[in-house]
Amino acid sequence: MNIEYSNTLEEVPWDRVSYLFEQVGWGARSPDKIERAFQSSSFVRFAYAGNELVGFGRTVDDGVYYGWIVDLVVLPSFQRRGIGKHILRELESDLSPFITTMLVAAQGASGFYENQGWYKQRSAYIYPRSERQIDVFSERR
Ligand SMILES: CC(C)(COP(=O)(O)OP(=O)(O)OC[C@H]1O[C@@H](n2cnc3c(N)ncnc32)[C@H](O)[C@@H]1OP(=O)(O)O)[C@@H](O)C(=O)NCCC(=O)NCCS
Repeated sequence: MNIEYSNTLEEVPWDRVSYLFEQVGWGARSPDKIERAFQSSSFVRFAYAGNELVGFGRTVDDGVYYGWIVDLVVLPSFQRRGIGKHILRELESDLSPFITTMLVAAQGASGFYENQGWYKQRSAYIYPRSERQIDVFSERR
């Protein structure tokens, strides 16, 4: 199936974005908050199969030095067809003026990023906002 990619927030079905977050196991997120987060993002990409939203990703940055890729998600039934790779390539390109491009891999996604030429950092830290974040991100446990 032909996939079309868009970088505009116009007519994005935010309830569908919320549905995709749930489908990849990231829990319930309200469409209103998601829309606000995407509106505050520097670059966005959406993947559509016909009229159906099947993937997305976005970036946050400081306008000068640092850019992060966040919320890269592909609907499970559309995974392993090159959609994640395509969105990642475009967001990497959007962030090319920045000195540093970073991301935090979700559980199970490290292989995907390493396959795409990303390197695991030796010295990344997170200030945990929950016990769960310590369990998920810390090597100390
Ligand atoms: C991670 C994710 C975005 C990958 O998207 P995708 O569309 O399935 O990936 P692609 O089909 O573009 O895969 C590109 C390549 O990476 C490989 N790959 C995909 N997922 C992988 C994984 N979890 N581990 C190792 N390799 C993986 C593919 O086999 C493919 O390899 P190839 O180019 O040699 O054929 C998708 O699985 C997803 O949404 N996962 C749930 C949410 C998540 O964890 N997102 C990451 C946020 S940090």
